[in-house]
Amino acid sequence: MTSAKHINIWAVLAATVQVAAGIPLAPAAADCSRAVLTEAADAYVASQKAGSLAPLQQFVANGWEYEENNKRIDASKSVLTKALTIDHRRTIYDLVDCATFTELIAANNPEPYVIGTQIRHGADGRVTLIDSVASTTGSWLFNAQNTLKYALQEKWDIIPEGKRDSREKIKAAGDAYMSMWDDAKASSLVPWGAPCARLEGGAYTGRGDEDTCRQGIPTNSSQAPNTRRRYVIDESMGSVNILCVWEHMMNAADSHEFRLENGKVRYIHTMTECGGRVCRL
Ligand SMILES: *[C@@H]1O[C@H](CO)[C@@H](O)[C@H](O)[C@H]1NC(C)=O
Repeated sequence: MTSAKHINIWAVLAATVQVAAGIPLAPAAADCSRAVLTEAADAYVASQKAGSLAPLQQFVANGWEYEENNKRIDASKSVLTKALTIDHRRTIYDLVDCATFTELIAANNPEPYVIGTQIRHGADGRVTLIDSVASTTGSWLFNAQNTLKYALQEKWDIIPEGKRDSREKIKAAGDAYMSMWDDAKASSLVPWGAPCARLEGGAYTGRGDEDTCRQGIPTNSSQAPNTRRRYVIDESMGSVNILCVWEHMMNAADSHEFRLENGKVRYIHTMTECGGRVCRL
């Protein structure tokens, strides 16, 4: 806990300087630093590797909640209690909403998983909610070996400060894409990139310079919408993750992560879990 105390002191000092300089403070964000978010996300990954909630205990708030595949459940009965061999992990950091999103790929585990997890923090920096989509065999186009192979080929580096898209632009791009099922105008609002590759479960649209993420997009916009959207946005990664209810496919639990580069969609990663049943359109 020593490091957490140091962080608090620095946050207070920084806040003092900001007030003295007449810069307004963002409400409730005093303890939302990258360090606080990183410690909790790392503890979450350690928990998943260990199959134990113990590594998380020092970071969670009293009464913290756990959601898996869009259902509030007891964390002690969750996928977190299965020790998984993790092959790949990437976390994005939202310093405005004080949240992270972590993609985990456990392809070489006897029971393979690809998991997308949003972690939300309260004003004191403690974790109030862990919200996961845990896809496995039977999930939409699930093939963890392929997911791992393609994810490792991609380059998700930090975007230099002068080249970053705004939070609003990144969120609007993700929202437009997610609205293509129920809004005929939405696809024209997606800033389609070229190349753009979509990793949909274990299926990949990436083919090289001719890549496009328009392959297989809905032509019928009279379908049920993607609702209950929850967002984590990281401008430094050009990324937004959206968890939602994928209503037009068995009310599935769904995760879509988008990365924009230079204002255009470059990568999309999806995970879709259908309540323990085999996903079907
Ligand atoms: C579009 O989707 C709706 C809802 O699933 C369905 O009722 C309708 O038949 C579909 N229309 C076409 C043209 O496929």
